Amino acid sequence: MATRAPFLTTRYGGYHHRDVPQEDTELTHVGPGTPCGEYLRRFWQPICFADELRDLPLRVKILGEDLVAFRDFRGAVGLLELHCPHRGTSLEFGLISERGIRCCYHGWLFDVDGTILETPGEPITSTLKDRLCHGAYPTHEYNGIVFVYLGPPEEQPPFPMYDSFSRPGYRLIPGPKYSYPCNWLQILENAMDPIHTAFLHTIVSGSQFTDEFGKIPELDFAETPVGMIYMATRRVGDNIWARMVENVLPNLQQVCPIWENGHQEHPFSGPMMSRWIVPTDDTTTMLIELRHVSAAPGATPAWWANCDMAPGQLPADTYEAGQRQPGDYEAQVSQRPIAIHGLEHLGATDRGVIMFRQRLRQGIYAIQAGQPLDGLCREAGKLIPTYCNDTVVRVPPAPTAEEDQHLMRTTGRKLAESYLAHPPLLNGH
Ligand code: FES
Ligand SMILES: [Fe+2]
Repeated sequence: MATRAPFLTTRYGGYHHRDVPQEDTELTHVGPGTPCGEYLRRFWQPICFADELRDLPLRVKILGEDLVAFRDFRGAVGLLELHCPHRGTSLEFGLISERGIRCCYHGWLFDVDGTILETPGEPITSTLKDRLCHGAYPTHEYNGIVFVYLGPPEEQPPFPMYDSFSRPGYRLIPGPKYSYPCNWLQILENAMDPIHTAFLHTIVSGSQFTDEFGKIPELDFAETPVGMIYMATRRVGDNIWARMVENVLPNLQQVCPIWENGHQEHPFSGPMMSRWIVPTDDTTTMLIELRHVSAAPGATPAWWANCDMAPGQLPADTYEAGQRQPGDYEAQVSQRPIAIHGLEHLGATDRGVIMFRQRLRQGIYAIQAGQPLDGLCREAGKLIPTYCNDTVVRVPPAPTAEEDQHLMRTTGRKLAESYLAHPPLLNGH
């Protein structure tokens, strides 16, 4: 199978361009044993909200694995292989118990760590339960979200604490959880593709955020210790508005306020949202948000604290409405169930997408070589610096458009470099 389509140079040349190359399996396939699947499994991943675990078991799927989640009467959270090890009945029909979950078919009882506590139909002398375990994964609850570690037990890292999670004057609330019928990578790459905020979200579909997003930004990108940021700088009167969105390896993005318009000078704003992009399988992805809500009245809009959906994120109400005013959902899902990199023609504005893919590949290769992973913190409780923010500074325009573009880029770059040298959130901003 071809990995790249030919660069088509003939008019009316569709006939020469019909072969569809295979997807980039190294970055897009996530099941057990795949390169990217093994990489993603080295990091804690969100699986559901804590309050979804009530009186009935919850069937879940992550990275192609079918699992059941539950909270037993003691309060312990279990995440087990979906199918009972006896004869395969799904534990989504099980009975949550004082300790663990009991299969509905023949009553085997499983603790949250996979210990088989009872095999009630077996002879009293049976030692089967003492010799066998059921598949289980460790979980961790944080701010209303249940996280799971799906990797090799001996490699389990501590739960990561980013500096944006403990910011003075802000609280974290669980936001919406939703699903896109496409591969995880094209959703995450969107955050390193800042020019789409001008086209998709403003010029094409009308202002989905603020009108100022419609100015074509100057673009720059920088690696951080745990991922990368983009710097999109825009001229707003006598101000330069620098917007920095962040991808934290491997699949967390931090997005700054979409209500920003660049008119008021202000320092580093921090993120409005931390959102994990979690593959359910190769062609379905869960997005789950933690929202950053300021304690200062009016600093974050009421609709944000109420967990209303941000504009442009869900599918339009009808197909026609989606054609008339497409948003992120239409743009990303329509790239195909798995976007085909061999059909792309990347340009100067795609530098962030290219950089992000490179960083993922480095992580995948590091695992294969047994080397430490960027973005994986091994020190429990250590605050990990992050850099997502808007900053608006008063810098009057340069005499020519070209000089002003240069001024915007250098202003954004200098701000980013100063934040990378002294992370504002880590220093109590
Ligand atoms: S299939 Fe679960 S106990 Fe028999
Ligand atoms: Fe978007």
